[in-house]
Amino acid sequence: MPGAIERANDPLTRNIVYPFANATFLAKHPPICIEGGEGVFITDTQGNRYLDGQAGLWNVNVGHGRPEIKQAIIDQIDKLSYYSTFGLTTNKPSVDLAEMLCRMTAPEGMTRAFFSSGGSEANEAAIKLARQYWRQMGHPARTKIISLRRGYHGVTLGALSANGYTYYREQFEPLLPGFIQTETPYLYRNPFSDDHEELGRICAELLEREIIYQGPTSVAAFLAEPVQGAGGVIVPPPGFWPRIREICDRHGVLMIADEVVTGFGRLGSMFGSRAWGVKPDMMVFAKGINSGYVPLGATMINARVAEPFNTEEDAQFTPRAFAHGNTYAGHPLACAAALANLKIVEDENLPANAGEVGSYFMARLRELQSRQPNIGDVRGMGLMIGIEMVADKATKKQFELTEGFSHKIWERCVAKGILIRNLAETFIISPPLTLTKGQVDMIVDTFDAALTAVAAEVRG
Ligand SMILES: Cc1ncc(COP(=O)(O)O)c(C=O)c1O
Repeated sequence: MPGAIERANDPLTRNIVYPFANATFLAKHPPICIEGGEGVFITDTQGNRYLDGQAGLWNVNVGHGRPEIKQAIIDQIDKLSYYSTFGLTTNKPSVDLAEMLCRMTAPEGMTRAFFSSGGSEANEAAIKLARQYWRQMGHPARTKIISLRRGYHGVTLGALSANGYTYYREQFEPLLPGFIQTETPYLYRNPFSDDHEELGRICAELLEREIIYQGPTSVAAFLAEPVQGAGGVIVPPPGFWPRIREICDRHGVLMIADEVVTGFGRLGSMFGSRAWGVKPDMMVFAKGINSGYVPLGATMINARVAEPFNTEEDAQFTPRAFAHGNTYAGHPLACAAALANLKIVEDENLPANAGEVGSYFMARLRELQSRQPNIGDVRGMGLMIGIEMVADKATKKQFELTEGFSHKIWERCVAKGILIRNLAETFIISPPLTLTKGQVDMIVDTFDAALTAVAAEVRG
């Protein structure tokens, strides 16, 4: 074991500020430096191999090192590495990708794509599109954004203001005015109901009451994830989203589905909106759009949202144009990677595999939950799964974070070559969508053994 001074000098930690990470903790527990990846497996600089149960960060949906994507990036860079899409110039991969995305989301009614570099930016664009939409529709007072508690939409100030988790918000208060969060249907912990559908009805009603309280003519949009991810994998009941669509329609509010994690197959259907049978007004993509091979985000809009941006004026810089854009919007390498990635998702029918393997995964975890006293809740859909740990099942009391219970389990899993994400009280499992049932067994058996060992250690 290196001593404190060597650790303070650890090249992995001494010069980087890592996202959402305690530097002192990291100096003691340096991160695993990943340097290789193939399929669902990754390797570190020490030569250890892991099954990637988190698909990078919910994003490497087709798996690591896919030669088709590598080739698409090389072919594109041989022709052109970058060119701007700011209006009077564009590039072919971004045009082709927009066309492909519109084809894929045609059942949801999407007609145009706006590109950015990731999920936060794509949500930021959605929020700004909503505001400008209402301005151009003659309702400039419709500016408020309602989202859900436990929701995660990113870190830029607009997306952050929509987040419904104190941890992400508190260091940056005051956030933007006009962002409001209502209750999420979190079955395991809520004061309202033990019945999932009833809980969904109550949460939908609370949203409607909030819209009415705020004054419907002040509300621009409702923004939510079809299944909440970073908030702990909160799956709403089937009736929730259709009910929300009705409520949005009743009050003229735009509906934005943040599909950054759920888009492109993770839930067992191509999109979360499709799984719930709703047509949002905007769909927000990133992550699985190109499995993280090159940063990319996209905000899809339907004809309703696109309409007021059409103008008869014969000038480029009219105030009616969407007044927003980043240098890397429609980056050709990112779009080329996305075209190759989405072809794999469709050709290999990865949503179907996520659904089938995900059901098997959930069945195995439910069995584990029935005999492990520290698994409070297991929830998920497709290959988006959360395991909520508790110190006491009867009271649902949580462990103190400083007890490190989950971290010890995580360490044992890592030592056995299984990488899953330990996010506060919940383990998040979001592997590549190519996962097999045999690989599910590897994850579940390792987690089971790690939990049993740590629980025994804690009980003494
Ligand atoms: C649902 C959702 N929206 C938005 C984001 C933000 O995406 P990014 O980290 O690419 O900015 C994330 C990231 O995890 C997410 O899970």
